[in-house]
Amino acid sequence: MPTTSDARKTNTYWGRDALDARILDALAAAGKDVNALTIDDLAPADQFHSGGKPATLRLARLAGLKPGTRVLDVGGGLGGPARTLASEFGCRVTLVDLTESYVRAGAALTARLGLADRVTHRVGDALALDVEGQAFDVVWTQNSGMNIGDKERLYAGFAGCLGPGALLALQEPMAGPVEPVVYPLMWARDASMSFLRVPEEMRAVIEAAGFRPRAWEDVTLELPGPSAASAIPAYAIQRIVMGDALEEITRSGARNREERRIVMMQGVFERSSA
Ligand SMILES: C[S@@+](CC[C@H](N)C(=O)[O-])C[C@H]1O[C@@H](n2cnc3c(N)ncnc32)[C@H](O)[C@@H]1O
Repeated sequence: MPTTSDARKTNTYWGRDALDARILDALAAAGKDVNALTIDDLAPADQFHSGGKPATLRLARLAGLKPGTRVLDVGGGLGGPARTLASEFGCRVTLVDLTESYVRAGAALTARLGLADRVTHRVGDALALDVEGQAFDVVWTQNSGMNIGDKERLYAGFAGCLGPGALLALQEPMAGPVEPVVYPLMWARDASMSFLRVPEEMRAVIEAAGFRPRAWEDVTLELPGPSAASAIPAYAIQRIVMGDALEEITRSGARNREERRIVMMQGVFERSSA
């Protein structure tokens, strides 16, 4: 397996130009005052995962995040979760993402919300994290590993960023008991870009990387995605990024969820001492 991700492929799939301007235009068109934006105004446009902001709050509480917690958010996208952890939990967050347009737009949104002293955005690969000299209490990763086949390397890399007792907090779509997955997905048009394993296998990989489980919860029913694209507003990040493809993605997403072809897991793990 390759030892780094394919940055060009990732940027082509996820990346879009001028995303901060497009998000602000869409929010303004919906009547929001973009000169006095709040975290909650932005949430539909910057929390790019099933369950939106409530899912982020749920995982943050599950991990017991506190003021001053130093978080490395891997695959943090536009920074919705990172800004929430900073503004609502008092964390200091370093966000790493491979999609350059997300890092640019995310940094602009963070500055607009006055959070630049607590959230930093960097381009980087989850499979080749470069955090030498920095200490983190938590690696946070939310709906970001689905394009990565080498889960062993991914979780070993997370373990390498943490000292004993530090935490890994994750939310991930995983393979359900029913096969096959129906495409397209939010993260892949076909099987060549999607790498899901069942929860038991994922947990075994994470434990083998040097983590002990603290919480492991199936949140598929608690944090459902939309069942129809008509319910997704023009300012939602899913619509801004996926455009017309969203109708079919939403249909297959609902089917995968209802037929248990894909499940959504949240987990918190503690880095073991050796
Ligand atoms: C669905 S978005 C989730 C973004 C964010 N975690 C959130 O919940 O709002 C998936 C993200 O994973 C990022 N990603 C995919 N592969 C990556 C890799 N190898 N390294 C870093 N980021 C990656 C994408 O660029 C994208 O921002």
